[in-house]
Amino acid sequence: MQHNIGIIMNGVTGRMGTNQHLIRSIVAIREQGGVQLPNGDTIMPDPILVGRNEEKLKALAEKYAINRCWSTDLDACLANKEDTIYFDAQTTVRRADSIKKAIAAGKHIYCEKPTATSLEGSLELAKLAKEAGVKNGVVQDKLFLPGLLKLKRLIDSGFFGKILSVRMEFGYWVFEGDWQEAQRPSWNYRKEDGGGMVVDMFAHWRYVLDNLFGNVTAVSAYATTHIPKRIDEEGKEYECTADDAAYATFELEGGIIAQVNSSWAVRVNRDDLLTIQVDGTEGSAVAGLRDCKTQHRANTPKPVWNPDIENPFHFTEQWVEVPDNQEFENAFKIQWEQFLKHVVVDEVFPWDLLEGAKGTQLSDLGLKSSEERRWIEVPELTI
Ligand SMILES: NC(=O)c1ccc[n+]([C@@H]2O[C@H](COP(=O)([O-])OP(=O)(O)OC[C@H]3O[C@@H](n4cnc5c(N)ncnc54)[C@H](O)[C@@H]3O)[C@@H](O)[C@H]2O)c1
Repeated sequence: MQHNIGIIMNGVTGRMGTNQHLIRSIVAIREQGGVQLPNGDTIMPDPILVGRNEEKLKALAEKYAINRCWSTDLDACLANKEDTIYFDAQTTVRRADSIKKAIAAGKHIYCEKPTATSLEGSLELAKLAKEAGVKNGVVQDKLFLPGLLKLKRLIDSGFFGKILSVRMEFGYWVFEGDWQEAQRPSWNYRKEDGGGMVVDMFAHWRYVLDNLFGNVTAVSAYATTHIPKRIDEEGKEYECTADDAAYATFELEGGIIAQVNSSWAVRVNRDDLLTIQVDGTEGSAVAGLRDCKTQHRANTPKPVWNPDIENPFHFTEQWVEVPDNQEFENAFKIQWEQFLKHVVVDEVFPWDLLEGAKGTQLSDLGLKSSEERRWIEVPELTI
């Protein structure tokens, strides 16, 4: 039996909406014949693309054989009882209002992070969804990246012994837009439009840290704007009102300390755009987006500090790659498949709007910590 499931996809003409959610998730799932269920049934997503630009929506629908095409009228789409899921990948400031309408229309909700621009806004969405009894989920894609799945495998095997610390380096140079086009939308650098490194990336760091190492219990952050002016998509100069870098330390349950540098004004001299080093009593590992390498206690070299001689160690060559041992699918597609199974056959899906709100909580507290130049406790979040 095939379960057709109507999905209203909003914000699908954007960078994330088009590439990750439409092409690499929903279109890929349709092309593979749907999501297989253990009893032999399949779930077939049947999207309708919603947005404001008819031309772009039409082009996408035609290119990717979306039979029900597109609409510029969200309210009309929400009124259609056949569509049971509302998905949102609009710019962050637009998300909460649309989700509230979708909850009121009885739709299940799946959306990008951050879910709203403040903790209050994110919590309100979680509460409304709970009260309405609709299923809900938030994108937490980094958990499904091959590098992080390998790291999780190491943690589950007990490889690290007692985990002591985590060091995360995230970022790359985002061009200012003058002599080379910027590779991220300009709203990301304007606070009033929902931009900012802390708002954007602490939402990710929260679920990465919580899920892999232990719940975040305190934060100390320094957020800053290194590049004060950039050039937008129309070639106009604008003031960067949001932070473009954050240097943070997090305390986790169990006494693990995590240091996380996030910057769009850094040139990459590491194996990947995100690297996560974990040091434990029995071994260490460094994960990137796809790869992960380890150094066991027994293979640890014994350097002696002596700047007067040539360094005899090639430190980066002393690590061993963790093998794939499996096929890795696109991270967004994995989570979409799980959400569809959650909606249709009630499979467990722990990454809900409350989990999303925890991301916004950490962003809010991170910015507060930076403004007040002090450590801040992260209280448990409930609704
Ligand atoms: N999970 C991740 O790794 C990840 C990465 C990047 C961005 N994001 C999140 O995804 C969301 C979208 O980011 P993006 O980089 O794709 O942005 P984008 O600017 O490329 O796309 C934004 C989308 O919102 C729509 N939109 C903007 N203003 C609108 C308006 N006035 N009316 C109707 N529609 C409007 C645009 O048409 C577009 O479809 C953001 O919330 C961002 O935080 C998540």
